[in-house]
Amino acid sequence: MDEVERVLLRREAIAKRVQELGAEISESLSGDQPLLAVSILRGAVIFAADLVREIQGMVEMDFMAVSSYGDSSVSSGAVRVLKDLDESIEGRDVLIVEDIIDTGRTLKFLLQNLKARKPRSIQICTLLDKVDRREVEVPVDYVGFRIPDAFVVGYGLHYAGRYRNHPELLVLRAEAVTP
Ligand code: PRP
Repeated sequence: MDEVERVLLRREAIAKRVQELGAEISESLSGDQPLLAVSILRGAVIFAADLVREIQGMVEMDFMAVSSYGDSSVSSGAVRVLKDLDESIEGRDVLIVEDIIDTGRTLKFLLQNLKARKPRSIQICTLLDKVDRREVEVPVDYVGFRIPDAFVVGYGLHYAGRYRNHPELLVLRAEAVTP
């Protein structure tokens, strides 16, 4: 059975929106120090790699890995740090770069965790926002696309580890996704 139901966003649409987000973020840069883009492994890597190249100004990159889903399509709600940042963020302007916000639990945890390290500012940029699925509120500064509650893969997003390298965003058939 073909797992893919439809294409949600083609590569041109994604690229255009990423360019717009990069321009918006560029306007907000302080200018006195580099922005630190913190991408959340593994899903945000492809988005982050494209986004930072659309930002005009100094940008540094660091990475953090957290786990909440495992191979399942349903969030367990529990968040663990699997890989921490390499550098201190004290006094830095931080931009958290996520691929998708679903329940909001991952970002709530990340915000609390990173705010405790005393950055000068902290903002959130997500490519996708499944607003209907939100369980906890998080202040999101930049949103690429608000999307319906469907199982989305591609452009970094996965199902059981697969599809991350697909250049488009795809919706999988509900019956193909085992909870
Ligand atoms: C996805 C996504 C977010 C999180 C969002 O990660 O990258 O980090 O789920 O869900 P939430 O809003 O319900 O917390 P996933 O666990 O699939 O891992 P990945 O980053 O390796 O793709």
